[in-house]
Amino acid sequence: MTDLLDHLRTAVGADQVLTDDADTGAYVVDWTGVHAGRALAVVRPGSTDEVAAVVTACHEAGVAIVPQGGNTGLVGGGVPDGSGDQVVVSLGRMRRVRDVDPVAGTITVDAGVVLADVQAAASDAGRLFPMSLGSEGSCTIGGNLATNAGGTAVLRYGMTRELVLGLEVVLPDGRVWDGLRALRKDNTGYDLTQLFVGSEGTLGVITGAVLRLFPATPRHATAWVAVPSVDAAVSLLGTAQQHAGAHLATFEIANRQALDLVLAHLPGASDPLAEPSEWYVLVELAGASSDGGLDDALEAILGSAVDEGLATDAAIAGSPAQRSALWALREGISEAQKVEGATLKHDVTLPIADLAAWATSIGATLDRILPGVRPVTYGHVGDGNLHYNLSAPVGLDDDLRAAAADLTTAIYDSVAAGHGSISAEHGLGRTKAVAGASYKSGVEVDLMRALKAALDPAGLMNPGVLLP
Ligand code: FAD
Ligand code: MLT
Ligand code: ZN
Repeated sequence: MTDLLDHLRTAVGADQVLTDDADTGAYVVDWTGVHAGRALAVVRPGSTDEVAAVVTACHEAGVAIVPQGGNTGLVGGGVPDGSGDQVVVSLGRMRRVRDVDPVAGTITVDAGVVLADVQAAASDAGRLFPMSLGSEGSCTIGGNLATNAGGTAVLRYGMTRELVLGLEVVLPDGRVWDGLRALRKDNTGYDLTQLFVGSEGTLGVITGAVLRLFPATPRHATAWVAVPSVDAAVSLLGTAQQHAGAHLATFEIANRQALDLVLAHLPGASDPLAEPSEWYVLVELAGASSDGGLDDALEAILGSAVDEGLATDAAIAGSPAQRSALWALREGISEAQKVEGATLKHDVTLPIADLAAWATSIGATLDRILPGVRPVTYGHVGDGNLHYNLSAPVGLDDDLRAAAADLTTAIYDSVAAGHGSISAEHGLGRTKAVAGASYKSGVEVDLMRALKAALDPAGLMNPGVLLP
């Protein structure tokens, strides 16, 4: 391996090849703390040519690569396994915004640009890059593309795959595919761009992307709404769509348990409503500077929701600071649950009409498996996507770990029976690779394996991730 390390040092400079445990530590453990591996080296290339040289060297040495962006993934896909034989390729130094074209509505960036920096570059040009995640201050566009990330703007703008026009990718053998086309229309064969979206680093290293921009939406009307049930939340979604049309930008749900954790662990958080409720919805309408009447539309929605028994109370943001405070209640849930202790994450989606019945019945099933288990249920209900994350009965983290397999199987089996998905937006990574394959048909898994074998015949790109 000395030869490979020498080649890597030649490719990126000796100071960008990390091998000491003290230096590699932050790159080998994932955000959840569940996956902790070891790396032969962590390599930090600064350009596409350097990524190509690194991948070529690893390919020639027969050494596996783990691409990594901001390391905020929630399924262990961006960290190495425990062998100590894999090379982590971190894109963190590739942070250049290459071009912004507000008229064409495109932005071209290095894959290592942090999502919040893409949003800021779009805003500086008077445009909107709508993708929004709780991790947006750390996650990278390369990681967003590789996971086909979702987030809180999917309802209006779609998943990451709907926000990308072209890609630049270093293939597993080190060749560079320049697909950085900014065209809306291009029917000239298989859609290679979309093949790499959601491939979780198993088909190549994404080094650049052309992304779509949208008209800015500087006007907002935002409310934190108490609702009696998931059923009521889904009905309220219909009311909001009917009243607000395309202005409906956000429709997120959280149960009381989720809010309680935020209030307990997030400094400065406070409950905006006087009376507790079982469920809450964060609703936001967004529009251009010429779009008046958003506040009136929101009040009309909430008024009819209260009349119909779909909502019991609401706090409407009266200032940007109040808007941020309401958003913090939603965006702080992942972090607050992590502070609370052991967390068992489930990122499920079901047909939206079935969501309420599912959420009600699965709670009882899980309580039989682990009495007192606490569902911290929240997420993108407007997309049919619930984060059905479990916290242990108070003080019993080890019991949650011991029951984890049974709890997860019960959830996945019921989701599969309901024609849903066991991973709505986080991907499969290492955590769900086996389960992902077991809930798909043999034909579907065969097709995925055929694609993998065609692009990466030596199996060196992120082995063990996505496909078992
Ligand atoms: P990493 O974690 O570094 O990697 C993730 C995967 O992508 C790995 O398989 C890795 O190998 C691959 N990869 C990374 N970069 C590249 C590249 N350049 N080329 C090829 N493969 C690559 N996700 C959502 O979808 N919606 C949410 O609402 C959401 N909220 C979150 C909130 C919090 C607090 C946290 C911690 C995470 C959240 N996530 C969410 C998960 C995570 O932020 C996303 O999956 C994100 O897209 C990962 O980006 P990253 O740069 O951190 O990727
Ligand atoms: C979120 O939407 O906040 C995350 O995707 C959920 C999670 O951390 O499980
Ligand atoms: Zn989410």
